Amino acid sequence: MITKELINEIKQAVNIVDVIGESVALTKAGRNYLGLCPFHGEKTPSFNVLEDKQFYHCFGCGKSGDVFTFLEEQRGLSFLDAVRELGQQAGFQVDIVPVQQGPKSHHPHQVLLDIHAEAGKFYHALLMTTKMGEDAKNYLHERGLTDQDLKQFQIGLSPSDPNILFQSLSKKFSENDLLQSGLFNTADTNMVYDAFQGRIIFPLTDEEGQIVAFSGRIWTESDRLNKQIAKYKNSRSTAIFNKSYELYHLDQAKASIKKQREVYLMEGYMDVIAAHRAGVENVVASMGTALTREQVQHLAKFCQKVVVAYDGDKAGQAATAKVLEELGQFQVEVVRFPDGMDPDEFLSKNSPQALQNILNKSRMSQVEFLIHHLRPENPDNLQMQIDFVDRIAPIIANTKSITAQNTYIYKVADLLPDFDYSQVELAVNAVRLHQRQERSRDVSRQEMAPPLVREIPQQLKISPLIRTENHLLYRMQEHAYILNDYRLREDFHFYTPELETLYQVLKAEGEVSSYELAQMEESVQRAWYRVMEERLPEDVGQDELEELEARRQREWMRRENQVKSRTIREQTHVGNDAAALDELAQLIAQKRKME
Ligand code: UTP
Ligand code: MN
Repeated sequence: MITKELINEIKQAVNIVDVIGESVALTKAGRNYLGLCPFHGEKTPSFNVLEDKQFYHCFGCGKSGDVFTFLEEQRGLSFLDAVRELGQQAGFQVDIVPVQQGPKSHHPHQVLLDIHAEAGKFYHALLMTTKMGEDAKNYLHERGLTDQDLKQFQIGLSPSDPNILFQSLSKKFSENDLLQSGLFNTADTNMVYDAFQGRIIFPLTDEEGQIVAFSGRIWTESDRLNKQIAKYKNSRSTAIFNKSYELYHLDQAKASIKKQREVYLMEGYMDVIAAHRAGVENVVASMGTALTREQVQHLAKFCQKVVVAYDGDKAGQAATAKVLEELGQFQVEVVRFPDGMDPDEFLSKNSPQALQNILNKSRMSQVEFLIHHLRPENPDNLQMQIDFVDRIAPIIANTKSITAQNTYIYKVADLLPDFDYSQVELAVNAVRLHQRQERSRDVSRQEMAPPLVREIPQQLKISPLIRTENHLLYRMQEHAYILNDYRLREDFHFYTPELETLYQVLKAEGEVSSYELAQMEESVQRAWYRVMEERLPEDVGQDELEELEARRQREWMRRENQVKSRTIREQTHVGNDAAALDELAQLIAQKRKME
C-alpha cells in the first residue's frame, strides 16, 4: 500500500538534485542548481532546481514541480508510478511497473500495388454500373457529389457479401499475395473474408497516384444509426501503406500546390471533395485530426505554406492548435468554419463561391487563432488569465512585425480584467529579453562564458492582488503562529480561488504535502509553486502583515472596479444604457469609498 506517509518518507529519502541530475546537467548557481530545461528546447539554462525546497522551476517555459512531478512530466509516468519508481530506488517496499515499447515495419511490393489497382476498379465499377450500387450512389448524390466527382475520386462500393472481392481477385493473384494486401481477413474456419463489407470506398493513393489502401464509410440508414460501427474503416498498415505518411489527394493536388505555393490542410475525405467541388484543388487531408511528423515532412516537399482548415468543432479547433506546433517550419494561416461546421457541411449550406471566399479571404494569422483559442474560458478566473498570458506572451514575442505585436497585446489585454496593456506588454518584453540573451549567449558560447542566471521576474507577470496573496500564504506556510492567527479569523478568505483552496488544506493539515498536492488540479499545483517561489526576507517585518492586508483590500477593490468598467463598456456597446448607468453609479460609489 502506498500511503501518504510513505510518499513523504520517499520524498525525504531522495534528493531532487540527484534525481534530476541523472538526466539534466546541473551546475550550482548560488543556492540553487541550474541546467537546460528538459521540457522545452533552449540554449541558455533557465531550469532551476531548488535544493532547500526540493522543487524545480523553469523560467523559460514555466514548468515547475517536485521530484514526483519531474518524473511524471519527463517520462510520462502517473503520479503513483513516479512514487513507485523513486520508492524502489530508495529501497522502499513498492512494486514496479514494466514499460512497454511499440512495434515497427515496412517495404514496398509491386504485386500489392496491382492488387489494389484491381480492387479499386472492382469497387468503382460496382458503384457506378450495377443495380447494387444505385442506393449508395443516391446517398452520394444527396450529399452533393456528381458522377463526375465519383469518377474523379474513384469512389466505389464494397458489397455486403462476405468475400466477393476475394473470389474475384483469386483468379489473378495467389492467395498468399492477397493475404499480404491487407484487404482480407482470415477466420479460424480457414475462410477468407473481405475486410470492407457494405461500405462506400475511398481509395487512398500515394503521391504518384497508385492506390495503396482504402477507407470505407458506412452509408445505409441502419449502419448509420448503429453506434457500435466505426464511421470510417481504413486498411491496416501493409508493406505499401503507411498511414502516418500519406496525405489524401496529394497526387491530384500537388501540381496546384506547387503553383499556388500553398496547401489547404483539411481533416477528411469529404472535405477535400467539397473543396474540389468549389474549384479549390490545392487541398489534402490528414485523414483525421492527428497530423504526424512524417506527413509534415511529406508536405514540405511541395510548398512552405499551409492553410489549416480543420473542422470548426471543438475537436477540430484543438487539433488545429496541435497542428500549428507541428508546422513550425511552415508559414501558417488558419481558417475557422462557423457553427462547428466542417468544410463539407459548410458547402452543403452555402454556395461554392462562399466556400472559396472563406478559404481565401477569411484567414487568420496563427497568433490571432491562438489568442482566440487559448483565451480563458472564464475570463474572471485569475489563474486562467495568468496561464493565458504565460502561454500567449512567447507567441506574441515571436511575431516579427511590431505593429502586429501591438495589436495582439491590445487584443489580449482587452480580454482580461486583471491585465492592462502594460502588463501584457511587460510579459511579452520579458520573453523577448530572454530570447535576446539566449542569442548573445550563443555568440559568446565559444568563450565559455559562465552560465547566465537569468530570471524573468515572474512577479511582473501576475497581478498585484495575487502577488500580495502569494506573499501572505507564503508567510502562513512558513510560520505556524501566523497561520494560527488567521485560523482564528473565521471570515478570512483568499480572493484568488486557487490560493483559497491551498489555504483550506494548510489550515486543516498544517502543511501542503506532495500527496495532497498531487490530488489537486494542475492550476492549484502551479499556484502553490508560485507561492513557494517567493523570495522574502527571513524575518517577518514589523508591520508586514498589516501592510499586506491593506494592499490586499485595495487591489481587490481595484480589480472589482476594472470588471465593472468592462461591464459598462460592454453594456453600452450592446445598447443597454440602463444597465450601464446602474453599473456606473456603483462604480462611482466605490471609487469614493476608496479615496
Ligand atoms: P470526420 O468524422 O470529420 O468525418 O472525420 P468527415 O470527413 O466529415 O466525413 P463525413 O462528412 O461524416 O462523411 C474526419 C476524417 O477522419 C478520419 C477520416 O479520414 C475522416 O475523413 N476518420 C474519421 C477515420 O479514419 N475513422 C473514423 O471512424 C472517423
Ligand atoms: Mn468532418
